Amino acid sequence: MTRAKILGISGSLRQASFSTAVLRGLADHIADIADLTIHCLGDIPLYNQDLDTDTPPASIAALRDAIAKADGVVIVSPEYNQGMPGMLKNALDWASRPYNRSAFIDKPVITATCSPSPSGVSAHNWSSGYSCGRCQRGLSSCHRL
Ligand SMILES: Cc1cc2nc3c(=O)[nH]c(=O)nc-3n(C[C@H](O)[C@H](O)[C@H](O)COP(=O)(O)O)c2cc1C
Repeated sequence: MTRAKILGISGSLRQASFSTAVLRGLADHIADIADLTIHCLGDIPLYNQDLDTDTPPASIAALRDAIAKADGVVIVSPEYNQGMPGMLKNALDWASRPYNRSAFIDKPVITATCSPSPSGVSAHNWSSGYSCGRCQRGLSSCHRL
């Protein structure tokens, strides 16, 4: 049986990030059936349409390629001020272009929001779905992890 290739994206760059830890735990949990690789967003530049040409920055080409080659994507992120962290939104904006050729088109995507606060995690999981644009599955579930 072919092993599924899953791309993990963390919405936190923090070294001891809980969100990245959730992704690592998931990778271990599904290791028997799938390979989950975490793609670091640390070198993604701020979106600039002037740079979004046929030869985008190398880190952008790598991100789009990693999404395109994955069978599915799992995004785990903290919530910052009831929204998704800016650096995650920025990366999803890059991945969603060029118009009509989003790397997420027809891609199964799951998002989960992670907060150490019992009252945390409210709205941002919904908006990350819109940012991916036209991915295959809804991104509607909101999990307190
Ligand atoms: C700028 C900022 C805004 C935050 N806003 C929220 C929030 O709206 N809701 C929440 O539950 N936690 C919020 N937090 C706390 C984060 O959930 C917490 O720092 C979390 O550990 C960050 O995720 P990470 O462990 O993956 O880095 C915020 C933290 C920062 C730095």
